[in-house]
Amino acid sequence: MKKDEWLKTGFVNEPVDKDIDLKVAIDRLRKEKNAVILAHYYQEGEIQDIADFVGDSLALAQWAAKTTADIIVLCGVHFMGETAKVLCPDKKVLVPDLNAGCSLADSCPADKFAQFVKEHPGYTVISYVNTTAAVKAVTDVVVTSTNAKQIVESFPKDEKIIFGPDRNLGNYINSITNRNMLLWDGACHVHEQFSVEKIVELKAQYPDALVLAHPECKSTVLKLADYIGSTAALLKFATKSEVKRFIVATESGILHEMQKQAPDKTFIPAPPNDSTCACNECSFMRLNTLEKLYNCLKYEFPEIEVDPDIAKEAVKPIKRMLDISEQLGL
Ligand code: 13P
Ligand code: SF4
Repeated sequence: MKKDEWLKTGFVNEPVDKDIDLKVAIDRLRKEKNAVILAHYYQEGEIQDIADFVGDSLALAQWAAKTTADIIVLCGVHFMGETAKVLCPDKKVLVPDLNAGCSLADSCPADKFAQFVKEHPGYTVISYVNTTAAVKAVTDVVVTSTNAKQIVESFPKDEKIIFGPDRNLGNYINSITNRNMLLWDGACHVHEQFSVEKIVELKAQYPDALVLAHPECKSTVLKLADYIGSTAALLKFATKSEVKRFIVATESGILHEMQKQAPDKTFIPAPPNDSTCACNECSFMRLNTLEKLYNCLKYEFPEIEVDPDIAKEAVKPIKRMLDISEQLGL
């Protein structure tokens, strides 16, 4: 009965007793149930702090593929949970709030993408991990922002390639690999929002600062960047660099780990276009909270389900990505 109600809300909407120490309770539940908590860098800081592992999309998939836990709690968005479920069909995969979708994945409906692929026979299909399992099922190889360049370059220069769904990442990879991949016209609402004017203003205010940008940003923002990379790459660059100040054009959740690893440095979130807020948060990622994580572990709900026929096809391009990444040492 309760589950029917939770199915409608997409999460366990039961109030948590305010006397419960959530961190202690989550830790106890995870041990009791042999569960592992994986979190993306765009999660709230308190979720990142309690997770067994925090990483980018590639690292989360790699971690899910090798865990021996019985339950995977994926603190991220729906496609990340699906990827974990496809890789581990016998495990229970939970996401604290099933409403945590992704505007980029939504910009690529599976039926339309399958039709597009059908209209282009002879093309190799490369899909960004930010897609549904159904899109992955009609894909030859999946990529993330960490390995997209290397995986595209693993194909001959004259290979005919469809790349979806992110047009900004696709254009960027085309430019750095000197290719002409056919692009799906999708985008992420967070990364498309960064304001060129406001970044230029910040650069003028802090001339010593370097601009770090995620390749999902528009080309006009990427042109301003001193370094372009996945969340994990931006983090690595910022912590290794001699420079002390950075303007960061990606979801602002990454600043938590940047600040933790480099407490002596200053990280300024790049501002979006139309906002009174100085940061740029993914509304989907931020649906997960510590309370929802606690309830999710307690009731083992909501669970990610993937149609077995779709999973059977989707697992192939995901495993291909993991194999290539391993060979490349990524
Ligand atoms: P990475 O985790 O690959 O940097 O991608 C960011 C993202 O958009 C996750 O949704
Ligand atoms: Fe999707 Fe963009 Fe949110 Fe990442 S930041 S989950 S690409 S909507």
